[in-house]
Amino acid sequence: MPPQKFSETNLEAIILFMLSQTGESAPGYYASMRVIPSASEGQRLFQQKGCIGCHSIGDQGGKIGPALDDVGLRRPPEWMMQHFRDPQTVSSGTVMPRFGFTETEARALTDFLLHLRDQKVALSLPSLMSPVERGREVFRKYGCAGCHGADAKGGVPNPNAKTAEQVPGLIYVADGYTKDELKTRILKGQREIPALDAKRPPPPLYMSAWAGIIKDSELDDLTAYLFSLKPKEENPGF
Ligand code: HEC
Ligand code: HEC
Repeated sequence: MPPQKFSETNLEAIILFMLSQTGESAPGYYASMRVIPSASEGQRLFQQKGCIGCHSIGDQGGKIGPALDDVGLRRPPEWMMQHFRDPQTVSSGTVMPRFGFTETEARALTDFLLHLRDQKVALSLPSLMSPVERGREVFRKYGCAGCHGADAKGGVPNPNAKTAEQVPGLIYVADGYTKDELKTRILKGQREIPALDAKRPPPPLYMSAWAGIIKDSELDDLTAYLFSLKPKEENPGF
């Protein structure tokens, strides 16, 4: 793990700050948890793993998986626990990744989701960050990690996708794109994902268009972050 320049508490504050800056109202979304201790850990995991890339809360987020606002009414805690341990065992064929959570982590996420409705948003100001650091938070905020993997390293299964049946990692985008091309790519998304085998069902995970969702300044930071991911040893002269 690279050294973090800000604490988790800071991180939470930053994300809340970004939400407030973008004028989004997000009841329960990235909210502070004072009532249920393990739920705050669940909230942290929720942000870190990019769940929001596939799920929405308060109308924000992806549409690949169900909205999670009232999942507590639909699913008993034991089902959720088992689903976090191994999604396939209760939902065969799902594209929800198996994250390899510990029992404590699965419990924390379950608590977080069960208590989404009780949460109150607390706001404090973020510390100063560089564009790359802000970009990493944008990457988390929009759940890019949910499909492109933690730290954009890839590895999330996408059955029948030409790209090794996985969603591609993004650490080499600096080689294939200029910054403007990368921004355009993110804004446009890609609904049709090339299939490995035309006879099998199309790959379930696709890239949504982010135009109108990600703000210009966020996109600048996001691009700076993605460009910074290129491994240093292969980047002489920079
Ligand atoms: C629901 C899953 C999903 C989410 C969430 C998602 N993507 Fe993607 N993304 C994909 C898939 C699938 C592809 C591969 C498209 C293809 O086959 O070329 C892709 C492709 C890309 C590419 C082109 C990669 C390349 O190698 O040319 C970029 C850049 C990218 N995504 C950035 C992002 C960013 C930034 C976010 C967050 C704002 C994001 N994606 C969120 C699924 C997702
Ligand atoms: C790549 C997309 C993807 C990511 C990332 C993802 N999920 Fe899912 N999730 C799904 C899909 C698709 C379903 C519906 C099928 C199923 O039950 O597995 C689902 C189902 C669920 C359900 C059950 C919802 C219901 O109404 O039955 C919960 C709870 C859930 N996910 C939580 C999470 C959490 C928490 C994370 C992050 C740690 C996460 N998911 C990350 C795709 C995803």
